[in-house]
Amino acid sequence: MSLEVIILAAGQGTRMKSRLPKVLHAIAAKPMLGHVMETAAKLSPIATHVVVGHGGDLLRSYLDSSSNNRSLNVVEQTEQLGTGHAVDQAIPQVATDSVALILYGDVPLTQLQTLQDLVVRAEQGSLALLTVELTNPTGYGRIVRDAQHQVVAIVEQKDASEAELTIREINTGIMALPAAWLKQWLPQLSSDNAQGEYYLTDIIAMAAAAERRIEAIHPASEQEVQGVNNRLQLAELERWYQLQQAQHWMTEGVTLADPARVDFRGDIRIGQDVSLDINVILEGRVVIGDNVSIGANSVIKDSSVASGTVIKPHSMLDETLVGENCDIGPFARLRPGTVLANNAKIGNFVETKKTIVGEGSKINHLSYVGDATLGRGVNVGAGTITCNYDGVNKFQTEIGDHAFIGSNTSLVAPVQVGAGATTGAGSTITKAIEADTLGVSRGRQVNLKGWQRPQKKSEPL
Ligand code: UD1
Ligand code: CA
Repeated sequence: MSLEVIILAAGQGTRMKSRLPKVLHAIAAKPMLGHVMETAAKLSPIATHVVVGHGGDLLRSYLDSSSNNRSLNVVEQTEQLGTGHAVDQAIPQVATDSVALILYGDVPLTQLQTLQDLVVRAEQGSLALLTVELTNPTGYGRIVRDAQHQVVAIVEQKDASEAELTIREINTGIMALPAAWLKQWLPQLSSDNAQGEYYLTDIIAMAAAAERRIEAIHPASEQEVQGVNNRLQLAELERWYQLQQAQHWMTEGVTLADPARVDFRGDIRIGQDVSLDINVILEGRVVIGDNVSIGANSVIKDSSVASGTVIKPHSMLDETLVGENCDIGPFARLRPGTVLANNAKIGNFVETKKTIVGEGSKINHLSYVGDATLGRGVNVGAGTITCNYDGVNKFQTEIGDHAFIGSNTSLVAPVQVGAGATTGAGSTITKAIEADTLGVSRGRQVNLKGWQRPQKKSEPL
């Protein structure tokens, strides 16, 4: 049986107090809707329908940019008349012989296994509900069971009797069922209830009356079905998610100085015997080899770091490729397009951009090196600057193998320094230097014997 996913995301999310639609608020740098879409995609549905309303344009552009899924169908719900009404907007485009899985865009962390369990039961001809027992069920729809413990209805908080309010098993809102049943029952919903809404949950009583099998299954943890209504709940889920990631990486052989103070935000791969000190952030597509150590407060974004490299505290890497056994930081800033060959060394207060640093080359202190190519064994002295920008265009600097750039050299690009060449400290290099040649450009020092320091003038009366 084919599967179709319906994601409800039309709600306003007033309590976020945000211009951004609620489902675009992020957990681990990915919008909640993105988490839901990603998990749903792993079930290989033939189509995914996202019901949007508030902030529909923003949601559409997010969905366009994030997904190359041609089976994605964005459905507009212009007025938010309830969850039943929301599903009804999508249902004409759902194949009658499919199974429909209903998800919420603001419940981001449901696990694949849990959804698979629901879908399998729906394929076997059940209405499969995801429910959970809570110590405090206030606000949720309650699962009403008969004397045989069979689910017979869901009653919303605002419509519940005293007795029903004591029920602790609640509706998470996530369910799977044959689409044909939805097509049959949705038109029969009424808004004659405390909230004047078309409740999707009213189909449960219809299923019971039609003697359809209703099965309740439970998630492995409560957080899987936790919805987000405000920024406190967003932060709680973020922490839970991060702790799961931290536990995963520790079981995979990564040492974390403190599992509560490290963040994984994206598609991360880490080798063995890696150690991450506190407040390390790995973001985007990050690949870390074996035996890498990353110092406190470092941010590694969309980068790869090969085995044996040491990154000292307070370093920032963005779109950077780092070879083996490099030594980086503290306080290094490697910007997009930086490539370090093996054994390269980037010291404190060094900024690089679109720069290739050859094997064993060193830029140890206080430098800006941009739009440059350095050969092997180059030594760049403290305070070296590539003057790569004339205010309009960027120009290249090329430095040959084993060149020695004296401290405080300004390299006015485009410029080439040949292999084995040297620049004198404090030089402004504007012309190419041939191999094995000294380039120096600075005023000659003059020493004046017997020179008198100026005297302080006596104050006029
Ligand atoms: C719903 C369930 C309740 C369940 C709870 C779990 C109903 C009637 N009630 O209640 O049993 O315990 O979720 O959190 O289904 N949405 C739309 N269009 C609408 C209304 C809602 O897209 O017209 C979306 C919202 O964006 C949200 C989801 O549906 O993602 C749930 O809506 P919400 O208003 O939070 O439902 P609750 O009243 O909390
Ligand atoms: Ca809700």
